[in-house]
Amino acid sequence: MEKILITGGAGFIGSHVVRLFVKKYPNKKIFNLDALTYAGNLENIEDIETEDNYEFIKGDITNEQFIDELFAKHQFDGVIHLAAESHVDRSIKDPMAFLKANIFGTVNLLNASKKHWASIENKRFYHISTDEVYGSLGETGFFYEDTSYDPKSPYSASKASSDHFVRAYKNTYGLPIVISNCSNNYGPFQFPEKLLPLCINNIKNNKPLPIYGKGENIRDWLFVEDHASAIDLIYNEGKNGETYNIGGHNEWTNMDLVKLLCKVMDKKLSRKAGHSGKLITYVTDRAGHDLRYAIDASKIEKELGWKPSLQFEEGLTKTVDWYLENENWLNNVTSGGYLDYYKEHYKNDCY
Ligand code: NAD
Ligand code: TYD
Repeated sequence: MEKILITGGAGFIGSHVVRLFVKKYPNKKIFNLDALTYAGNLENIEDIETEDNYEFIKGDITNEQFIDELFAKHQFDGVIHLAAESHVDRSIKDPMAFLKANIFGTVNLLNASKKHWASIENKRFYHISTDEVYGSLGETGFFYEDTSYDPKSPYSASKASSDHFVRAYKNTYGLPIVISNCSNNYGPFQFPEKLLPLCINNIKNNKPLPIYGKGENIRDWLFVEDHASAIDLIYNEGKNGETYNIGGHNEWTNMDLVKLLCKVMDKKLSRKAGHSGKLITYVTDRAGHDLRYAIDASKIEKELGWKPSLQFEEGLTKTVDWYLENENWLNNVTSGGYLDYYKEHYKNDCY
């Protein structure tokens, strides 16, 4: 039985990838390795926890002895690596945590793969990365696979570094690797520190919606299940050593995005049109805030036949429905230390 190690599978994107692989490949054994940090949550994958081809392992990718013993024990055929510290604002407060998890953790997994893969035949180390490694665009242009790296936040610097290590292990040791760089994801199970779930939760609770700066920064948004389907395709059909950009061709300024969300939620909550828009509040801008990200995803479309499946309003409505129907999930993740962290660091009344 083929054994695939997925790291970070209790997080937002990882939980969708684990679910897809467990359901689609009953003859492959899926191991989900996650440290269950503040962002990891077993509730994200409780629907598959009793499946025969699934096993959860709690553990830290930065622990060298643990990772070495894990690889020795299971002899994985492939690794799909998503575990990471993922929030730009947190990286500004604590860059070292990002260096440890994202760079050291990735190199630790690369070392274990190198050591335990006696033959590289039918092996694959797949690193899931971000378009933020390419830096920030002006009003025009796109990120291509050969765009020079120019990371600007501690988060993107840590992801860029880990991408470089992954490529270096192919060049130096012949490790079979593949990398993808994706734009901003949205959808169910996203921790409500990121823009969309934070605003969904605040609209629901009639709390202010924090817009950094003037709200003119632009992001390209992709529904998380479309990212998971691209990851499946790249893992199974991507070419060894290649990089694939993944994006939604779906650019929004933060302000237009939040206004659209307010409109969708006013309807869903049977509130008067314009009600939630009044919650929009300008707050201090993020330090070094990247202006615009935009992905050219034509390589994965041409070579592997991948395209996003959902129109944005459809995906956004699905997402809002999910958060409104899963009140317990939202209450659980927003209880405890969640509010304290944000109150301490952001010092405004949006949290
Ligand atoms: P997330 O923060 O929701 O989940 C990260 C998961 O990794 C959590 O379950 C956490 O417990 C786990 N983790 C963190 N440190 C760990 C460690 N040391 N050992 C083991 N597990 C650890 O993140 P996400 O948004 O799902 O992102 C997943 C991956 O996709 C990341 O590598 C991120 O850089 C990349 N990515 C994210 C986006 C996005 O829009 N969210 C876009 C492109 C790429
Ligand atoms: P975020 O969801 O944190 O993703 P990323 O920083 O990886 O793109 O932020 C998306 C955009 O929304 C980004 O331009 C920052 C902005 N933003 C706000 O204006 N207010 C907020 O409260 C948050 C979390 C983000």
